[in-house]
Amino acid sequence: MEQRKIYVLGNWKLNKSFNDILSYFQTFNEQLKKDNELLEGSSIIYGVAPTYVSIQPAQTLKAGKTIILAQDVCGVGYGAYTGQIAAKQLLDYDVKYCLVGHSETRKYLYVTDQMVRTKTKALLECNMTPIICIGESLEQYEKQQTYDVLNNQLTITFKTLTKEQVVKCVIAYEPLWAIGSGKTPTIVEIENICSSIRGMIARLYDDETAKQVSILYGGSVKEENCKDIIINPDVDGLLIGGASLDPNTFFKILQIVKQWKK
Ligand code: PGA
Repeated sequence: MEQRKIYVLGNWKLNKSFNDILSYFQTFNEQLKKDNELLEGSSIIYGVAPTYVSIQPAQTLKAGKTIILAQDVCGVGYGAYTGQIAAKQLLDYDVKYCLVGHSETRKYLYVTDQMVRTKTKALLECNMTPIICIGESLEQYEKQQTYDVLNNQLTITFKTLTKEQVVKCVIAYEPLWAIGSGKTPTIVEIENICSSIRGMIARLYDDETAKQVSILYGGSVKEENCKDIIINPDVDGLLIGGASLDPNTFFKILQIVKQWKK
């Protein structure tokens, strides 16, 4: 069976002006040009998610195999949905990957697991890759409900999805309390939870399906902790917020992942 893909993805959230993006890529591209393997295409899929309006400039400014992904998508096609963006429109701008269910969209835009499912399906219909974010709150973590919460999120999101569709999805495990807080679960917890997520997919589908799904970790990933997180066999990459805003830091994390996940 093909090896699972490894991802290093930056989530810029609501940050960066056009000029910021210009100087970001000047620096990032320069770094990239020193690493032929990454520039020409290694097995690592790497890139950043700017805001919608910055997708086109980012596509023009990026170099090498950098991908530009979107932070969210509407679950339905064209219609009377003010403020929304359709998967087809993202494709028009060569976007092939998109986050769905990020905890900030769950919190501020009231995105539910059912909506995550419709968004996932909308992306799959356009042959795009959904990066489905799941994770427990601090209260749920402290009450030791993490596994139940994740299982519930996955079960609702994947309901009615075939295994052929599920293998095209990526899961990002992001504990809510780790996002932007500087705190992370222990390395052992990350390993156990990511491998349990794979177990949950296996129970919903089968082992073969579960083995093909890349599972990323996100939440306070930094240059200092990324090696310990990424060396876990069930962690297939990283979703990085704050630390991806600096091109040098993001590049360093990318190189560390390349070194340990070859
Ligand atoms: P953080 O954000 O790395 O700043 O914690 C991660 C995310 O929200 O995806």
